[in-house]
Amino acid sequence: MNKSTNIVWHQSSVKKADRENLNNHKSAVLWFTGLSGSGKSTLSSALESELFSIGTHTYRLDGDNVRHGLNKNLGFSPEDRTENIRRIGEVSKLMVDAGLITLTAFISPYREDRDRVRATLAQGEFIEIYVKCSLDICEVRDPKGLYKKVRLGEINNFTGIDAPYEEPLHPEIIVDTENQTLEESVQMIIQYLKEMQYIK
Ligand code: PPS
Repeated sequence: MNKSTNIVWHQSSVKKADRENLNNHKSAVLWFTGLSGSGKSTLSSALESELFSIGTHTYRLDGDNVRHGLNKNLGFSPEDRTENIRRIGEVSKLMVDAGLITLTAFISPYREDRDRVRATLAQGEFIEIYVKCSLDICEVRDPKGLYKKVRLGEINNFTGIDAPYEEPLHPEIIVDTENQTLEESVQMIIQYLKEMQYIK
C-alpha cells in the first residue's frame, strides 16, 4: 500500500537505454537464491570479479551486508523476510535503471516474494539463479557456524531446518554447487549472459 498521496512520477531525461549504450552492455538483476551455505555469496562475488574484469558495470547486494544497514530493523520472521526481499527488489530496480548488472545474494526463501520482484521488472531484467545444494552439504560446510548453533538450539526459524525454503520452479539458471566447481558455475552464468546478449 502506498501511504503517500499527491505524488507524481518524474521522468528522467537520461534513460536506461542511454546508460546501456554508454556501458556497452544491458542491465539486469542476477537474483541468486538458495539455502544458507549453498554458495550464493561466494559465487556472486566471483562472478562480479569476472564481469568487472571484462569491463562490465556491476554492483552486488548481499544479505548479511544489507542487514547491517538498510534492513537492520528486520529479523527472520516470514513478514520481515518478505519486507527484506521487497526492499531489495526496489533497490535492484533502481540499479537496473542505473544501467548496472546487479547481483543479489539473499536466501529469498519464498517463491511469491521472488516472483513479486520479477513482476516489478521488465521482461528479461530478472534472471533467477538457483544455487542448488542439499541441506546436508550446506550443514557440513557450515561456513559461519550457524547450523551448529541451530542444532544447539541457539537459533530459531533457520531456513531449511525450522523455516521453509521454496525452490524456484522455473529459474533461468540452476548452478549445482555440490557437483560443479566455482569456476564452472561462473562460466555457466557468463555463457548465459553472452548467449542472451546481455554482455558481448
Ligand atoms: S532472507 O531469508 O532472504 O530474508 O535472508 P537474508 O537476508 O539472505 O539473510 C540470510 C543470512 O542471515 C544469516 N542468518 C539466517 N539465515 C536464515 N535463517 C535464519 N534464522 C538466520 N539467522 C541469521 C545467515 O548468515 C544468512 O546468510 P547466508 O549467506 O545465506 O548463509
